[in-house]
Amino acid sequence: MKQIRVPGLIDVIKLDNPHDILQLTSSDMVDRQFQPGGPLLNRLMLGGILRTLSWRGQRFPTMRARAADSRATAQDQLWQRLNAQAPQLRGGPERLEPLANWLRGKNEGVHVGQLLQQVIGDAVVPGYVASPESWAAAMTMAMALAPGNTLTKLRWMLSGRVRRAKTLLAHLANNDTSAMHATGVAIHNIVKGMQQMRAIYQSEPATDAATAARRCLFAPAAVLRQAASEGSISGCPFSRRTLLVLELEKARQAANDEAMVFLAQTWSRCPADGWVPALFEGVWKRASPPH
Ligand code: HEM
Repeated sequence: MKQIRVPGLIDVIKLDNPHDILQLTSSDMVDRQFQPGGPLLNRLMLGGILRTLSWRGQRFPTMRARAADSRATAQDQLWQRLNAQAPQLRGGPERLEPLANWLRGKNEGVHVGQLLQQVIGDAVVPGYVASPESWAAAMTMAMALAPGNTLTKLRWMLSGRVRRAKTLLAHLANNDTSAMHATGVAIHNIVKGMQQMRAIYQSEPATDAATAARRCLFAPAAVLRQAASEGSISGCPFSRRTLLVLELEKARQAANDEAMVFLAQTWSRCPADGWVPALFEGVWKRASPPH
């Protein structure tokens, strides 16, 4: 845990211990209400993230409060929809052939991000058509959300680059913010997983599909919370509006704790917690010659 606190300037706590993270995510003291106010750097950081992760006045699902109108219903409906697709996906259907080919070291002309965007997009908005431009838009989202690069981000904000990227993603996603999140933000964890899978495919091709899939699951680098009231975590006090950065991937690696990947035991659990492993298994099976 790391506390960065300079009164009036910044008030942030970073957590990378699974126990602390699960304790906080189940506590009423922190949420994703993200109210304005607080020290200068908190306001700037939060303002930038919320601007990027909103569309037409609506926040992306990962930035919505626990009790926000229809959040839990939408989360549950997406979970059911994705889970209904999982068994077929796990079998390695024909539509995974472009990804399987990439795994075999072919299909080099197309970025794996675009191939994945096609499959993810189609799962949430049937008929989705990914392109080099839509993948570039997802890359813009990733850069806009990455820490640092303040000058580049400022330039992009002024030039409207992030807005244009979101306009394209929104158009393809029928303005559905869950689909925009999936194809523009969450996709980067899946790209990382596919790159890992290619390394396993080359070095340990006899690995079974379920094991290969498990080894390709990476958690998001960080998710955000804001303190709704004063409180403390592992003896570290926080005030109302302290920003809490939950460093999930660090926590997963340090404690080998797979629960960090999708936060599946918490109210904010990822609706794709069954679908993503099924996708990985399906691609592996499709690419592997029968033994
Ligand atoms: C490897 C890939 C993925 C990982 C590691 C991942 C992980 C996560 C995590 C940790 C959260 C909780 C965020 C928080 O607590 O604030 C989350 C939320 C969410 N994820 Fe994923 N995700 C992945 C892919 C996807 C995909 C493909 C979709 C959609 C098809 C998706 C849709 C969502 C949505 C809608 C939420 C918000 C749930 C809510 O709080 O209402 N995710 N994801």
